[in-house]
Amino acid sequence: MKVSFSALEIPASGVVVAAVTEDRALSASAGKLDEALGGGVQRAMEASRFHGRKEQTLALLAPAGTAFTRILLVGLGKPGELDPLRLQAAGGQIYAALAGNGQADAFVCVDALPDCTLSPADMAAEMAFGAALRSYRFDKYRTKESEDDKPSLAALTFGCADAEQAAMLWQRNEALAGAIAFTRNIVSEPANVIYPETLAAQARTLADHGVEVEVLGEERMRELGMGALLGVGQGSARESQLVVMQWWGAGKPASSEGVGDDAPEVDPNGPLAFVGKGVTFDTGGISIKPAANMEDMKWDMAGSGVVIGLMKALAMRRAPVNAVGIVGLVENMPSSTAQRPGDVVKSMSGQTIEVINTDAEGRLVLSDALWYTKQRFRPKLMIDLATLTGAIIIALGHEQAGLFSNDEALAERLAAAGKATGELLWRLPLGEAYDKQIKSDIADMKNVGERGAGSITAAQFLQRFVGKTPWAHLDIAGVAWGKKDSAVTPKGATGFGIRLLDRLVADHYEQP
Ligand code: BES
Ligand code: MN
Ligand code: ZN
Repeated sequence: MKVSFSALEIPASGVVVAAVTEDRALSASAGKLDEALGGGVQRAMEASRFHGRKEQTLALLAPAGTAFTRILLVGLGKPGELDPLRLQAAGGQIYAALAGNGQADAFVCVDALPDCTLSPADMAAEMAFGAALRSYRFDKYRTKESEDDKPSLAALTFGCADAEQAAMLWQRNEALAGAIAFTRNIVSEPANVIYPETLAAQARTLADHGVEVEVLGEERMRELGMGALLGVGQGSARESQLVVMQWWGAGKPASSEGVGDDAPEVDPNGPLAFVGKGVTFDTGGISIKPAANMEDMKWDMAGSGVVIGLMKALAMRRAPVNAVGIVGLVENMPSSTAQRPGDVVKSMSGQTIEVINTDAEGRLVLSDALWYTKQRFRPKLMIDLATLTGAIIIALGHEQAGLFSNDEALAERLAAAGKATGELLWRLPLGEAYDKQIKSDIADMKNVGERGAGSITAAQFLQRFVGKTPWAHLDIAGVAWGKKDSAVTPKGATGFGIRLLDRLVADHYEQP
């Protein structure tokens, strides 16, 4: 969708949007529209249950005696409670209310509001962000859709004081929305299109924005001793891949990489590291999943999709930060070459793992990806994202992602970034008692614990591969995909984690 900003002059025709706050208080523009309509806005409100509350909208069609096609009133609730998230949601609601009416563009009046701490330029940029996020649609495989079934809205103009400032603020949001759409696209793709090599090819496109991208194939991973990751992929006809993305926005240090096993484990000047689970399809392997909803497992690579999208966002906004993104890409299939329950594999760390359940594969992939990242880059901190457990959906549903961390400060910063971006995190515990559950009789550990606390034992497993590095694990199984539309996220792939981590980076780790 095309977004532009201009001075606030209410057009005399077309589609016009204006705000109303709690108790039917008209914004200046809504008041002017009411005048132009001879009191028609007030009468329409009185003839409806529209009170200007948040999430309410009211459309007036082709009001007589004017050239307007449609006037949309958007409720903003109490002006004193307006914040960026509320305005993004309003932008999403505006898009949703106008998308399918047949008109191609609309003008949104953004007035200064009493008691609101945000400037009209801030408000316009946030509303534009919400509208852009909501306008995402994955329709490349719909070949027979009629024009009437496609969204018609293609452009929004936001009218506000200081439109230049709004356009500047929008630049960053636009880059972020673009990166989120990129991630939503690759997560939405079916597994016959996106598999390890083609997902790696998507990551390679980041080179256009200044990211250094390397792809390691199975031969190289075997040399490195990544038996845990390779074991998961060994049943698939598709070759497993490990992609390393480096963004040196704060300047590449002379030696950007750890120098052997005697180097300090954590380099305070090291890069931030983001690690993603990229299981391009998870059948469960020999511990095969039931048929119902197995198609969902095409998005078991969402963690990697988010890491790739985040690196793209950082590069596109030229973030003054050093960050690396590492994603482990495999397909988990049953076949005559697949790994069996009971197999013992040796991870790159040297630790051995008894694979009790081949469906607990994400942790196996991440164990080698985390260890590799730590050994090679000595990062200042490591954050992994993974659709790791069904158990996190039992615990938190689809509202928040699970957060696990060995570092209080990092956990707090992440939770705060979650609140600021609406990508909420809820922390769960780690501890020795849980770790005991993954003791094995014949190897250093097994890949599943008992029935209870499944998300925690999965995190405990990961912790065995991060050493002393400040680390956080985000279990995004419940939030990577939405079954219904929400204000700024249409149903389908969400891109959850990009806004969150972009904010974490911006608030704490960028060079001044
Ligand atoms: N990819 C799944 C987790 C998942 C389930 C994500 C549902 C999204 C929706 C993961 O690889 C898995 O299969 N986990 C098992 C672990 C179990 C075997 C210990 C699970 O959660 O059932
Ligand atoms: Mn699985
Ligand atoms: Zn999985």
